[in-house]
Amino acid sequence: MEEKEITVNVKKYNEKDGVFWKSYRVKADRYTQMTEVLRRIKTEQDPSLSYRASCHMAVCGSCSMKINGIPSLACKTMAFKVMDEKGEINLESMDYYTEVRDLIPDVDTFYDRMYKVMPRLYADEEVIEGKEEQRMLPEEQKEVWKFQGCIYCGLCVSACPSVKADEKFLGPAAHAKGYRYIADDRDTKKEERIDMLMDSAWRCTSCYMCYEVCPQDVQPVIAIKKTRSHLDDYRGPETDVITMARKHDNAILELINDTGKIKESSLYLKTFGFGEAIKDSINMLKSGKIKYAFTKDNNVKNINEIKKIMGDKK
Ligand code: SF4
Ligand code: SF4
Ligand code: FES
Repeated sequence: MEEKEITVNVKKYNEKDGVFWKSYRVKADRYTQMTEVLRRIKTEQDPSLSYRASCHMAVCGSCSMKINGIPSLACKTMAFKVMDEKGEINLESMDYYTEVRDLIPDVDTFYDRMYKVMPRLYADEEVIEGKEEQRMLPEEQKEVWKFQGCIYCGLCVSACPSVKADEKFLGPAAHAKGYRYIADDRDTKKEERIDMLMDSAWRCTSCYMCYEVCPQDVQPVIAIKKTRSHLDDYRGPETDVITMARKHDNAILELINDTGKIKESSLYLKTFGFGEAIKDSINMLKSGKIKYAFTKDNNVKNINEIKKIMGDKK
């Protein structure tokens, strides 16, 4: 097997020395995982190098870090796939989390968010006592399964701009976990979960970064959209975010019913009102994007067909 010597630049951190970069030369071949690269550095060159890894097979979620600036699992990343033309790779601790040491982040805030959404099944008493059996149909299991696959790696949270900007947002992983139980008919806390997650669900900006970086294809943003679809079942406090969400929901239905499509500029106006639209128009004017607000948008031809599909959803 052909081996090459690669350069690994690690952004190191410790309390005494602060943040600094250190480079290491390591031999690797096309099958060398980044966790193996780190192991070689630690055992052969620098015992002080600190990182987390356990399963080496993308299951335990502990080796999360930024590889060349992209939130990734080190064990799922082959060194040869990510080195640049000079054979260099940059490693940093994940964004958002406080660094503990080198590539080890403090993930307490991540776990706090996960526990907030009660991440376990609350089955019916009869089932717990063994008096009844609850079975799932394959299609019901499929809906749950996608969101069940989360390995708590925290990569989606580190990539999420809304988590950084809005402390009331629970974050992508917690939403994926929360929706996993909303979708499970065996769970007895569905209403409580909807009330707990709804305000937060509308704080996501749908940028899809969580979708991009998730190593398990959990698609947290889809869980968030599915949670939003339960807006009519929400019985919690009427927060500003919930009021905006209801306006947004109604505006979408109104627009599809009237024109057969979602016209973005009208949707924005109906959701946020004239005052906010003026403020954003000024920003769009400054950034040269105002032309997109006036894009000509024709109604669809078979509007009656769409009205039929919409039924009483008006
Ligand atoms: S949803 Fe994906 S990226 Fe986020 S913590 Fe779970 S496995 Fe990791
Ligand atoms: S889609 Fe939503 S949850 Fe996912 S990264 Fe963007 S803002 Fe965060
Ligand atoms: S070492 Fe377990 S996920 Fe990478």
